[in-house]
Amino acid sequence: MQKGSKWSIQSRFVHSGAGFDFSKVRTPGTPIYQTSNYLYEDVESGTDVLVGKSAGYIYTRYSNPTVDVLNQVLSDIEGGEDALSFGSGLAAISAAVLAHCKPGDHLVASSLIYGGTYHLFQEQMARLGIETTFVDPTRIEQVEKAIKSNTRILYAEPLANPTLVSTDIFQWTVIAHQHHCKILVDNTFTPPPIFRPLDAGVDLVLHSATKYLGGHSDLIGGAVIGSKAEIEKVRPHLKYFGGIISPFVAWLLLRGVRTLGVRLERQCNNALQIAQFLEKHPKISKVNYAGLPSNPQYDFNRRHFNGFSGMLSFKVKGGFTAAKKVMQKLQLIQFTVSLGDVASLISHPASTSHVYLTSAERAAIGVTDGLLRLSVGIESADDLIADLETALS
Ligand SMILES: Cc1ncc(COP(=O)(O)O)c(C=O)c1O
Repeated sequence: MQKGSKWSIQSRFVHSGAGFDFSKVRTPGTPIYQTSNYLYEDVESGTDVLVGKSAGYIYTRYSNPTVDVLNQVLSDIEGGEDALSFGSGLAAISAAVLAHCKPGDHLVASSLIYGGTYHLFQEQMARLGIETTFVDPTRIEQVEKAIKSNTRILYAEPLANPTLVSTDIFQWTVIAHQHHCKILVDNTFTPPPIFRPLDAGVDLVLHSATKYLGGHSDLIGGAVIGSKAEIEKVRPHLKYFGGIISPFVAWLLLRGVRTLGVRLERQCNNALQIAQFLEKHPKISKVNYAGLPSNPQYDFNRRHFNGFSGMLSFKVKGGFTAAKKVMQKLQLIQFTVSLGDVASLISHPASTSHVYLTSAERAAIGVTDGLLRLSVGIESADDLIADLETALS
């Protein structure tokens, strides 16, 4: 609405600037379309969009230009045909599972998955009549044995949280498809270029975008990536359960992904140096890192992954009391939940991410009281090692 408009100042406060045509504006980054709804040339063309006769935007719960660009980017980096972004990783995981399972169905899941996902399957999906059998992901015969006539999904993570045990996603995929099941893989810990589950034949890739994709601990988001056909099955679960991502968070993610490659390169390098330092330290009884030659899965990891990730965990001698002391003494490395940040973050899985499990369940998967998980950032490796050295002494 321009100067000289016939409308009063009160109406111009409200309408001035609305409907600016951005179609000729091109920018290197993606603008934030922070809007819930959209305007049309005229009533007729608007009606055509609303009834699906022509393409266009209707309502941000259905689609949004900023979110669409993010979906294209995520699909591109994971090697998919399409993607959907969600308000959180768990919103993405639940939508993907519900797209394939109805009451009475069954899924086989790795027991080495994020604690919140474990809880989602064991408690919340069970309340909906969807039953889960948890298996040791490294014992492929156990995986196959757990499949029943009503199994619809196999679910795994390539690198387990927090023990960093690797799962052979290629083997899992073969088994899943032999039994006409879908395979869903949470790739949060090993984002591209470290691993691309779709290249292994996986049906849907999931992300807590909160972690490496965002990379700065400033957002919560999730994603599902796959073929066009698979994504279409998930779309109604996003649209009608409504767990959408906001345009602003989508923009933060677009910005985050631009530096994913360099962040990961540095995080992997730093993590290896720290793992080598910790392995020699007398106060540490065990270091879990995919890139250590002492890791029993080292040869497999070298073949399976393009980089060993920025995640490691280690057992401090003296249990929780000693582990707590170390966390308290650290100055550069911050004690907090979450991971994948440019800053190094340390956490205590037994009392945070895996608190949902009983102590027997935790012990069975190696989450002991003295175990600390380190998400390595992009700081100087020398400084991080010095911080750990001081805290351990
Ligand atoms: C491997 C993994 N998957 C999924 C999630 C859940 O993601 P969000 O917290 O974004 O819902 C997390 C959270 O820590 C995670 O570590």
